[in-house]
Amino acid sequence: MASSTTARVDLDGNTIKPITICMIGAGGFIGSHLCEKLLTETPHSVLAVDVYNDKIKHLLEPDSLPWAGRIQFHRLNIKNDSRLEGLIKCSDLTINLAAICTPADYNTRPLDTIYSNFIDALPVVKYCSENNKRLIHFSTCEVYGKTIGSYLPKDSPLRQDPAYYILKEDTSPCIFGSVEKQRWSYACAKQLIERLIYAEGAENGLEFTIVRPFNWIGPRMDFIPGLMVQVRVFQGFWHALAITSSEGSLSSLWMG
Ligand SMILES: NC(=O)c1ccc[n+]([C@@H]2O[C@H](COP(=O)([O-])OP(=O)(O)OC[C@H]3O[C@@H](n4cnc5c(N)ncnc54)[C@H](O)[C@@H]3O)[C@@H](O)[C@H]2O)c1
Repeated sequence: MASSTTARVDLDGNTIKPITICMIGAGGFIGSHLCEKLLTETPHSVLAVDVYNDKIKHLLEPDSLPWAGRIQFHRLNIKNDSRLEGLIKCSDLTINLAAICTPADYNTRPLDTIYSNFIDALPVVKYCSENNKRLIHFSTCEVYGKTIGSYLPKDSPLRQDPAYYILKEDTSPCIFGSVEKQRWSYACAKQLIERLIYAEGAENGLEFTIVRPFNWIGPRMDFIPGLMVQVRVFQGFWHALAITSSEGSLSSLWMG
């Protein structure tokens, strides 16, 4: 594992200066791994925002940890907490991971899913834009929707034609299910917040990066009924990996 004392350089060879990162959703699956990476391999500081901190407890205590001065936990709900703008203001970069993002919820809690992925993210985008702070926003691969090929009859020879099954990020049409198919509420909410971020960039100069993860699985992920068998197999693999390699990390864990 690289040491935080090793000077990191950018693509031009210039030393990267330590920055302060406001990480919203830091207490979740991806956030907890990202915090770990930032603290152990970079000199950056993290203002970790979440309603829970059980997955990052090992990074917060005891005070004698080597990065103790570089992480602060702020327990707050971004829906309704006036401290949010202050935290974004005093950071150089904001990473927003907060969301309801469990497939079981899209069908059973579509309102919460839409509010969480769109409405609750609005103040984060607004404060970043108004205060000229860069935003890295976590979206999802679900915004790619379905391919044209998936709607063709099973025996159609066109199914073998890449033009129908290869999805091109910038040019393929976006196909979602109809409104009553509630599992698309997550993808639609994520796409709308992406569009808003893009528009803030175009009209008001917001600097942003949008990340669209596929299904990342590994230690500390929440229980997902449909994925349980897959996760058990994968956890076995993870333990084997962790034993045989001291480099085991989240980056080696994602599946497209
Ligand atoms: N894990 C994946 O495979 C995957 C795939 C595609 C997209 N994503 C996206 O990446 C992001 C992170 O995913 P994850 O798997 O770590 O999810 P997660 O549920 O483990 O983490 C999300 C965290 O956000 C926090 N949070 C939610 N609403 C909040 C609020 N109102 N105020 C404060 N904190 C709040 C939760 O407490 C949780 O700790 C999400 O935006 C998700 O949509 C993840």
